[in-house]
Amino acid sequence: MTSIDSLLHENRTFPPSPEFAAQAIAQPEIYEAAAADRLGFWAEQARALHWHTPFTQTLDWSDAPFAKWFADGRLNVAYNCLDRHVEAGHGDRVAIHWEGEPGDQRTITYAELTAEVKRAANAIAALGVGQGDRVAIYLPMIPEAVVAMLAVARLGAIHSVVFGGFSSESLRARIDDAEAKLVITADGGWRKGRVVTLKDTVDAAIEADITDGKPSTIEHVLVVKRAENDIAWIEGRDLWWHDALAAAPAEHEAEAFEAENPLFILYTSGTTGRPKGILHTSGGFLTQTAYTHQNVFDLHPETDVFWCTADVGWVTGHSYMVYGPLANGATQVMYEGTPDTPHPGRWWELIEKYKVTILYTAPTAIRSFMKAGREVPDRFDLSSIRLLGSVGEPINPEAWIWYRDVIGGGKVPVVDTWWQTETGAIMVSPLPGITAAKPGSAQVPLPGISIDVLDDDGKPVGPGKGGLLVITEPWPSMLRGIWGDPERYVDTYWSKFGDKYFAGDGAHYDEDGDLWLLGRVDDVMNVSGHRLSTAEIESALVSHPIVAESAVVGAADETTGQAVVAFVILRVEHAEDHTTEEAAVLLRGHVSEAIGAIARPRNIFIVTELPKTRSGKIMRRLLRDVAEGRAVGDTTTLADTTVMEAIADRLSGGVRSED
Ligand code: WT7
Repeated sequence: MTSIDSLLHENRTFPPSPEFAAQAIAQPEIYEAAAADRLGFWAEQARALHWHTPFTQTLDWSDAPFAKWFADGRLNVAYNCLDRHVEAGHGDRVAIHWEGEPGDQRTITYAELTAEVKRAANAIAALGVGQGDRVAIYLPMIPEAVVAMLAVARLGAIHSVVFGGFSSESLRARIDDAEAKLVITADGGWRKGRVVTLKDTVDAAIEADITDGKPSTIEHVLVVKRAENDIAWIEGRDLWWHDALAAAPAEHEAEAFEAENPLFILYTSGTTGRPKGILHTSGGFLTQTAYTHQNVFDLHPETDVFWCTADVGWVTGHSYMVYGPLANGATQVMYEGTPDTPHPGRWWELIEKYKVTILYTAPTAIRSFMKAGREVPDRFDLSSIRLLGSVGEPINPEAWIWYRDVIGGGKVPVVDTWWQTETGAIMVSPLPGITAAKPGSAQVPLPGISIDVLDDDGKPVGPGKGGLLVITEPWPSMLRGIWGDPERYVDTYWSKFGDKYFAGDGAHYDEDGDLWLLGRVDDVMNVSGHRLSTAEIESALVSHPIVAESAVVGAADETTGQAVVAFVILRVEHAEDHTTEEAAVLLRGHVSEAIGAIARPRNIFIVTELPKTRSGKIMRRLLRDVAEGRAVGDTTTLADTTVMEAIADRLSGGVRSED
């Protein structure tokens, strides 16, 4: 580590090599072009897509904050990701090199992917799905996930992909909110050497008793055969994907839809217990994902092999595994399983095997590889790598340097990309052939994007001072709202500063004008790059009969960035029934079942009181102090100042529970 230490102390930046800079797609003029005519610049990016009917208007912001981009243009998103490449003569190019966790493989060209999507679109249409209908997708990381999304998009329908780690209750809440009529799932998927029984979860989600007898809106379940595990079957409702596709016609003409036709809903956690259905539409989303994918990752589609390790269940999978790369005709790697199955070098083995040139992953993964030691990646030939990307949370400079040194051979550009489910695409990032990279900083807004850091009163803070990150101008891939809840959209993002989008992140500029992201400023945690809401986990905890009250905080964690830590008061009548260890184990399992394993608290502390202000607000700041093992801060505003001593005493008594 000595070399890393000295690099950090030098506080140096890493300019691109002259060779990289010379061949880079984004050249310095791109900043000037965007600054000179922002909307003209975006219109030019949009024109790189295929429009069945070209647009004449770029932005309509008259109904702010509800944006319309390229509104009078018509296009088909799937056609842009598939047919157009085949028609341009690239049908034989590999679209996806797929690897299953058990080691099975599939190589799918653009021609094959197009053919598969056409059949799937016909099969899905035959189930009564048309423009504007909602389709839930609950699949493992198999090519059918991509096919299903594109087939739904091809029909002008709206997909709602639900991450396969979510529980039946979470899946049901998302199905209900979107009123989905079809769910596409698989019998199972492989994860950590075991089969995850997705179809069982879907069955449980659709069962009426999960919501006190209310039937679900689901009419059909389309099931991909993946893991060959036994599943229950409801004749008439359930259909095999392979049967439905085999019965469907091979040809399907892509119809053009208006640019603002909804493309997908993706649920993400907010500050309340109810997830928000973030709504994205077609033309603007595809424009910005394609533009950022090309320029930030310097994608040369003929020669690059791109690998974004995110699951399709998160926005990164939508924007940088499906839409951006496929719109650009990229060749990609897609991997079903976990990084350490069946051995800790699985990712590096895949990079060597497919000669991956661009890797896009999350700091949490990088930190866990760091922990395992560089001996593991050092056993593989990673020399094909020419660019590295990071996303999901701030990347600490140590991890950044390790990533560049160990994975990038100490020579490749590293791009730290800031964005959100709501922004749809990358907003702040270095450009790899232009920006001298600074470890730990996401640095500069992309050409066409306008960012500022404001204080609570909406005044720019200037260099060196912390403030709130805002986006000051609308952007093409911005969310168009929250599904079914326009008021919440306005309240959450636009009520604080009026005409500026409030991102919920703290940030500051340094003296060079580079942006540093400081984490969330609301009650949202970031665990392994995934967003979790404190309120949602609290309500899962209190839904258990032994719990009277709970408070959840995100505490700093060496590997996952933040970890979920819960403080729980048991009901008096149950307090004697379980040891604190038993109660903690029980409740961790309960949160897993209610939301999904990602939300399971790392620690549960059983306490007898929670620190509250006189008006009854829980002081999470103090709980975070305890959870992170710090001296407890200022307690003078507490209604009862002795509470924190009681909690600290209890915790030192050893009731901290971990698996
Ligand atoms: C939140 C968005 C963007 C796709 C994955 C997460 C944090 C994301 C960075 C970064 C610092 C980052 C922010 C943001 N975040 N990327 N490069 N540096 N923070 O999407 O679940 O919508 O979460 O992730 O806090 O608000 P998401």
